[in-house]
Amino acid sequence: MSTADSVNPERRRFLTHTAVVVGGVGTAFAVVPFLKSWSPSERAQAAGAPVEIDFSQLEPGALMRVEWRGKPVWLVNRTPAMLETLPELDGELRDPKSEEPQQPEYAKNEHRSIKPELLVMVGICTHLGCSPTFRPEPAPADLGPGWKGGFFCPCHGSKFDLAGRVFQGVPAPLNMVVPPYKFLSDTRVIVGVDSETA
Ligand code: FES
Repeated sequence: MSTADSVNPERRRFLTHTAVVVGGVGTAFAVVPFLKSWSPSERAQAAGAPVEIDFSQLEPGALMRVEWRGKPVWLVNRTPAMLETLPELDGELRDPKSEEPQQPEYAKNEHRSIKPELLVMVGICTHLGCSPTFRPEPAPADLGPGWKGGFFCPCHGSKFDLAGRVFQGVPAPLNMVVPPYKFLSDTRVIVGVDSETA
């Protein structure tokens, strides 16, 4: 065994031990304030709790992201021009009428939402769970002249329209998921609670 071989394991042990201690201190600092304000039952409740969202600042055509149950949830304020693209695409989609149970009954419509303009959707690709990108611009160079705006998953190339409906010929098998939600006012929704609107 060389000198270097006999010294390095000691050094490695020291470094490993140091890292564990530092890690332990760091964790303790991080956890203590958290435990003071959150009991385990409160934490469990928060993890599955509904989320209220104020979207009053959401510009027409823009997307905002929130988190619900550890998942990304997107809100998109669709413009009239965006909504007009939806009926034109039916022939290119795998499930244009949203027959698969990927949304609550009250979102089983062309725009897959309660109010046409506001899309509320879980931002996860139905292929293997990547988060697609929001690509609202029509006919970008990489997506081609037929692209009318939607969501593109760069992991394996799945495409969804501006209602999260999946196109034919891509790996994703299903439309993206619309979570349960309801309106609390014209500018607030709660995600995780079903709307009574049928
Ligand atoms: S995870 Fe989106 S295409 Fe594969």
